[in-house]
Amino acid sequence: MNELPGDQIESWRSVAEGWARQREALWRATRALSERMVELLDPRPGERVLELAAGSGDTGFLAAARLGPEGRLLSTDAAPEMVAAAVRRAEELGLTNVELSVVDAAATGLPGASVDGALCRFGVMLVPDCDAAARELARVVRPGGRVVLAVWAEARGNPWLSAVGRAALELGLIERPTPDEPGPFRLADPGRLRRLVEEAGLRVDVLEDAEVTWRAASLDEWWAIAQDTSQLVRTLAARLGEAGLATLREHAAGGLRAHARPDGSLVVPGKARVVLAGRG
Ligand SMILES: C[S@@+](CC[C@H](N)C(=O)[O-])C[C@H]1O[C@@H](n2cnc3c(N)ncnc32)[C@H](O)[C@@H]1O
Repeated sequence: MNELPGDQIESWRSVAEGWARQREALWRATRALSERMVELLDPRPGERVLELAAGSGDTGFLAAARLGPEGRLLSTDAAPEMVAAAVRRAEELGLTNVELSVVDAAATGLPGASVDGALCRFGVMLVPDCDAAARELARVVRPGGRVVLAVWAEARGNPWLSAVGRAALELGLIERPTPDEPGPFRLADPGRLRRLVEEAGLRVDVLEDAEVTWRAASLDEWWAIAQDTSQLVRTLAARLGEAGLATLREHAAGGLRAHARPDGSLVVPGKARVVLAGRG
């Protein structure tokens, strides 16, 4: 295993259990996006497909179902607890063509040109050196192979994800992130995304927007998901104490009330960007 960037991975390790707890809710909102990613990747029986920053693994597992018994999915993540959750999920699904391991997206240790295709959903923008992660994808995919990435579009189009950060900023709890800081919206600009892919040596074949719809029975349910999955909520919770956290929640909830229905449930639109890239 390669040396992993310590703090960055520690914070993902700390939310891995929460991500596993909320797996179904996250998957309900994002499954259609993963289906589109796998459609673009077009995995064929017998191929080897790599997934980077796989989290609980579900996107790659959709691809695994198309690889057949001779094919292989290499499902990887830098956080051992995320990989453990993906192992449990692969077992639940009865998948037998998946290898799971702890791998840093910026330095996989895999031989060059050793996979036919690669997937990375909501991962590349979180790697400290995201350009290195893109170059790594270009290196490990064989000539003629395909890479499919998904990133979040702009924060204002993703209130489900951005409400807490916006509230924390407005309350003076955090400083505005610098443009190239690892974070969900770092690659939202399509020009920056295209540059990342092309400078890594890949050809952009498709760059499209994809709608994501988040649903929760109530603001309380949204907050429970945020507490389980958001590193920012976790970090601030440790700092703020109960009253401060309640203020943060109230402020953040204000950004979502426009999406509440009369029964109190939430239907919140979101937007991702998907790239299909080819190695010439
Ligand atoms: C936002 S989650 C996305 C998980 C999954 N791909 C999904 O779409 O549900 C980001 C994932 O990236 C992983 N990650 C963060 N930094 C990484 C790195 N340097 N190398 C590999 N994985 C990393 C985290 O452990 C976490 O599982």
